[in-house]
Amino acid sequence: MNMPAAPIEVIKQHLIDPEICIRCNTCEETCPIDAITHDENNYVVKADVCNGCMACIAPCPTGAIDSWRTVFKAQAYGIEEQFGWDELPPDRPIGEAATASLQGSLVTALGAGEGATDAEDLTHTRTAMVPPWSAAKPYVNLYTHKGPVTATVVGNYRLTDASTDSDIRHIVLDFGAIPFPVLEGQSIGILPPGMTRDGKPHHARQYSIASPRNGERPGYNNLSLTVKRVTHDHEGNVAAGVCSNYLCDLRKGDVVTVIGPFGSTFLMPNHPHSHLLMICTGTGSAPMRAMTEYRRRRRLEGATGKLMLFFGARTKDELPYFGPLMNLPKDFIDTNLAFSRTPGQPKRYVQDAMRERAADLAQWLKDDQTHIYVCGLRGMEEGVLQVLQEIAQGNGLVWPALWTRLKREGRLHVETY
Ligand code: FAD
Ligand code: A2P
Repeated sequence: MNMPAAPIEVIKQHLIDPEICIRCNTCEETCPIDAITHDENNYVVKADVCNGCMACIAPCPTGAIDSWRTVFKAQAYGIEEQFGWDELPPDRPIGEAATASLQGSLVTALGAGEGATDAEDLTHTRTAMVPPWSAAKPYVNLYTHKGPVTATVVGNYRLTDASTDSDIRHIVLDFGAIPFPVLEGQSIGILPPGMTRDGKPHHARQYSIASPRNGERPGYNNLSLTVKRVTHDHEGNVAAGVCSNYLCDLRKGDVVTVIGPFGSTFLMPNHPHSHLLMICTGTGSAPMRAMTEYRRRRRLEGATGKLMLFFGARTKDELPYFGPLMNLPKDFIDTNLAFSRTPGQPKRYVQDAMRERAADLAQWLKDDQTHIYVCGLRGMEEGVLQVLQEIAQGNGLVWPALWTRLKREGRLHVETY
């Protein structure tokens, strides 16, 4: 008697395109089941863990995450193999048997969104992201690694006091006649010149845009960045960051290679009565500056929404944009600063400043017009969300329900690095 043939299981394997990926970690953070990991070279997807829930697709700023190959399950690409890739393997045709199987029930990673809602949990970082309903539609990926654009440096100014160790710079890039449309909250990728130790081109680094959509200078085809020179790694060891040092050392007239723009969810609402609650540390102030300045320019056109800012830095002298920020009218923006290393004063983080304003923040959380933006040090993310939770729960709000609603309505955005 003939035995039934063993089914040939075919999967649509989820991969990440190493040529487009800017290694921003968003996918790894978003994945609800830890199917994504990385090494020094690449971000990769574990075929045996990924369930195709699609939670990672929308948040990816470049679209590198939306890469798929049809393969026999037994021959799925392992993560070690993916770590070594410089480009995706070609999409090879599979045999008829496999095609038939693909059309049947054996396709395992094609859940196309089915799992997205169930995969949502309340651990703060792992929820599908959408922009506010009134956000303008962004352009993304106009320029890629294979087709980058160049911009000319028209300004590079130190924002932090010369007496401090923090070298944070305001860098203005001009695109001349080349279209580079951006929105506040988006970022760009910079391709630093040179090669890695193993002879590969450096991968792009991502930088938030610090200027409004109509230019650092209104009506000009330029944008600004807020770049911190990395001189030590996260563990405190001396390490000269490749791209940040390159950018901080640029001079007027230098030309840089740019890709992007990126980002389709961390965007500001356009309806004039929407409120912006902005919480940031260090260079996380870049998108807040962009949104604040856009609101300031629009204010003249009758915008009534409120702005509230919580901004953390080591000291006053290390807080980028301290001077201009202090000059903004109090009835335009409610600014709360938190300094962690002011000599003779206790360490103060943005979370502490938020706790002090708990009564006001509770009113903001109850207001359907409130849009919340958190950007900066990865370490502050959990603490900030924890305070929001405490304030909500202390004021009769059910945080898990509010959290879900804020995310579903595109009113809570977190970008940390
Ligand atoms: P690398 O050569 O990549 O790294 C050198 C060493 O420093 C490594 O050990 C690395 O782990 C460590 N390191 C990397 N970054 C830091 C850091 N920030 N602090 C301490 N150690 C670090 N940066 C800005 O300055 N301004 C921005 O507006 C900005 N926006 C970003 C937006 C997004 C969405 C993301 C994902 C990142 C953003 N960054 C921003 C960080 C930026 O992309 C780079 O990671 C950063 O400039 C370091 O790059 P590098 O090439 O200089 O360092
Ligand atoms: P700290 O003095 O502890 O480093 P940086 O200068 O490294 O970009 O950091 C910006 C600010 O964010 C600093 O004041 C820093 O304080 C602060 N910070 C560090 N960790 C956290 C955290 N977990 N939550 C909030 N703020 C933090």
